[in-house]
Amino acid sequence: MTDHSTKYVAAIDQGTTSSRCIVFDADGAIVAADQREHRQIFPKPGWVEHDATEIWSKVQAVVAGAIARAGLRADQLSALGITNQRETTVLWDRATGKPVHNAIVWQDTRTSALCRQLGGTDGQDRFRGTTGLPLASYFSGPKAAWLLESVPGLRARAERGEIAFGTVDSWLIWNLTGGTDGGRHVTDVTNAGRTMLMDLRTLQWDPAILAAMNIPEAVLPEIRSSAEVYGTAVGPLAGVPVAAALGDQQAAVFGQACYDVGSAKNTYGTGSFLLLNTGDRPVPSKSGLLTTMGYKIGDEAPVYCLEGSIAVTGSLVQWFRDQLGIIRDADEIEPLAASVADNGGAYIVPAFSGLFAPYWRSDARGVVTGLTRYVTKAHLARAVLEATSWQTREVVDAMYEDSGVRITTLKVDGGMTGNGLLMQHQADVLGVPVIRPRVSETTCLGAAYAAGLATGVWNGLDELRAHWRRDAEWAPAMERAEREREYRNWRRAVERSFGWLE
Ligand code: G3P
Repeated sequence: MTDHSTKYVAAIDQGTTSSRCIVFDADGAIVAADQREHRQIFPKPGWVEHDATEIWSKVQAVVAGAIARAGLRADQLSALGITNQRETTVLWDRATGKPVHNAIVWQDTRTSALCRQLGGTDGQDRFRGTTGLPLASYFSGPKAAWLLESVPGLRARAERGEIAFGTVDSWLIWNLTGGTDGGRHVTDVTNAGRTMLMDLRTLQWDPAILAAMNIPEAVLPEIRSSAEVYGTAVGPLAGVPVAAALGDQQAAVFGQACYDVGSAKNTYGTGSFLLLNTGDRPVPSKSGLLTTMGYKIGDEAPVYCLEGSIAVTGSLVQWFRDQLGIIRDADEIEPLAASVADNGGAYIVPAFSGLFAPYWRSDARGVVTGLTRYVTKAHLARAVLEATSWQTREVVDAMYEDSGVRITTLKVDGGMTGNGLLMQHQADVLGVPVIRPRVSETTCLGAAYAAGLATGVWNGLDELRAHWRRDAEWAPAMERAEREREYRNWRRAVERSFGWLE
């Protein structure tokens, strides 16, 4: 029996726009949280960077903040789990601990031409059989290849073993466990699987792909499971086992208790990511989805997922706020959108990073269609929200085509699930109920669960499953004819986004 009075697990969620730390008790309830944003750096159209040093200091600050708010000391934590924005690529100097360049963010499209070149006569699916992924600027391997080519002198240093490559999980674990003073250079299967360098079946780096991308093995972290003790923290967290790492979307799968084949969740963050658990074998996709890792707990068999990745959903609201200045606060979008009955004929396709699933078109750029003098900012606010639900509908349809699994309810989580208008529209356009759990911070929760499993705070998946509680549900209410008419309009708008020069 777990002693619920003394066990606490902390999780760090290093996301695209902010870092947060949440402390959970042994019932999986939130004790305290802290969060800080970091800078988004846009050096050119289509380029997106982060300062990895800034990220590390924000992470340290939120960890200290959450522990203080919980009224705990670090030595009262049983474990620390990490979850992170995936694919974002950091290269750093092992001797100084300094990044050699800003991190290249998953949304960045600078490697589009390199990806086309890598595809050669085999095309976009050249590495799909091994990695489950199409060649696209989204993934880390080509980003690392670009850095090795573009930063003067870097390749020679990398070949001499002086440079470390990592996704954000690796960067954080290395720093947490000592950095230049013996930091552990590891990653987990869910993050390694998004580099396009890992073989999905062997769970090892693939030598042929490394050779094709000209990436020296000396830069790579060791691939480990998602739940095991990688090392012990130093500094303010001294002695706490660093015991889990999962990409944020896979952590949400875990936190939403999607442990059974056929269970699915959609997380609404900067982008939205719908993952369907397909069990212990990778299912190839013919409909533009990714075959990806779900999680691997210690020595147990890995669990795989099909994923529909949507690059821009929450970040469209940010764009509407920051770049257009139509609202001052993200929360204002719901009342503005609710002030009109419909979108007034307007559709916004937010192809800011090209279009991800199910299209994988790097030549796509954002479009607004259906404008007339009638359209107001309120109609555009609706179109912003509806862009999220229509993109989700497209990946749900692709899931069905690939797996034959028809989703009968959709578990949702993430910031945008606080928007009731959006959740109702989501249920309407899918024609199935949308369900939000009581702990909507499922990303952190999943990382905490994995860390707690690795350190004996929890005994198994059944114990975790029992924590899941429904908080809110939206039932579909839209007439079928209206749904299908609107969907046709959306698809026509999507076609208009194709074929722009990069
Ligand atoms: O693959 C990118 C994804 O991991 C980013 O997630 O929550 O930071 O939008 P988020």
